[in-house]
Amino acid sequence: MDISIRNINLDTDIQGIREAHGDDDHWGSDEACYSSSKTSLENGFFIQVATIDGKVGGRDEKNVGLAEATIDGKIAGRDKKIVGHAEATIDGKIGGYDEKIVGHAEWVISNEPCQRFLYLGMLQVHTEYQKRGVGSKLIDSGAAYAKENGCTFLRTMPNIESGSMIFYHKNGFIETKDRNSTLTLETMSASVESAVRIDKVPFFAVNKLPFMVGLYQHASAHIWKVFNARHEYDRRTVYSYSIGESYINIGAFEPTERASVACWSKALTHELIKEILAVGGSLGYKYLNFCILDENLTCFNSFDYNTSPEHDVFMERLII
Ligand SMILES: CC(C)(COP(=O)(O)OP(=O)(O)OC[C@H]1O[C@@H](n2cnc3c(N)ncnc32)[C@H](O)[C@@H]1OP(=O)(O)O)[C@@H](O)C(=O)NCCC(=O)NCCS
Repeated sequence: MDISIRNINLDTDIQGIREAHGDDDHWGSDEACYSSSKTSLENGFFIQVATIDGKVGGRDEKNVGLAEATIDGKIAGRDKKIVGHAEATIDGKIGGYDEKIVGHAEWVISNEPCQRFLYLGMLQVHTEYQKRGVGSKLIDSGAAYAKENGCTFLRTMPNIESGSMIFYHKNGFIETKDRNSTLTLETMSASVESAVRIDKVPFFAVNKLPFMVGLYQHASAHIWKVFNARHEYDRRTVYSYSIGESYINIGAFEPTERASVACWSKALTHELIKEILAVGGSLGYKYLNFCILDENLTCFNSFDYNTSPEHDVFMERLII
């Protein structure tokens, strides 16, 4: 099987990408897939597709014309009668059917306060084409992109149930674990003073400000997209606000007493944390989940938080 990797073409690839995702298609419509991919591209994400020669599963010709043959139709009362037609076809390459999309990968460079890495947010190979090297080729292509862009490692959060950890191990990834913590809001009585509700955190904040408090995936730009770019059709609860030059997202993935927090800010102060807690509490949440780099954890010491013994598992591969 001759596998090629290329960058996404938004105008022609959407249907093929959704077919590659099969039953795992989480967009639900071509429009949603298009809009999500477009937002990603506009914000510097790197999206690849893996393709094979489309004649295997697709069409090898394209209809480009129709000719009708007619005779004098006076007998039937009409002035002409169609007695035959011929279709003209050409090699389908002109129509874009010379390849079939069998894999899809979405990456984003994450600029954390002390590291720059390439995060793999999505990877999918068409079920009929799995275990034939497609996924590995997408990873290698991502690694080349990471190297060109000064990243020191690749990172992803594997779907443990799917068995994909074996795939990542075989592609040079090793496991790492991340600290996952919970803040209890019930003991807080701070008021919301300077928080200003905004439509969404502007993407420039992600590039300009360190990612001080994150979510489990711990890739700032990816989290930004999860919270800010897709909620039009995700029906995810999201509350975004700014406090001075700090930007905060509070989101919940389902109706629950827990929310998750992401914060981009120059500095994580005691006052800022209090404001984050107050907004979360005013929204009716009892707990806020967050993830934070170890060196910043002391900021939270005077608050009621606990670090879960359950860690999130990541897979990382160094770029050499
Ligand atoms: C995981 C996935 C991307 C792998 O892609 P793929 O094209 O099948 O992988 P490759 O053919 O490049 O496999 C490379 C190696 O990993 C092994 N491998 C791949 N998937 C595996 C699995 N689920 N369980 C065990 N081994 C697996 C292959 O057998 C191969 O081993 P080999 O080198 O000894 O022959 C693909 O199976 C997939 O899309 N799965 C569903 C979605 C998913 O889990 N995505 C990952 C999100 S975390």
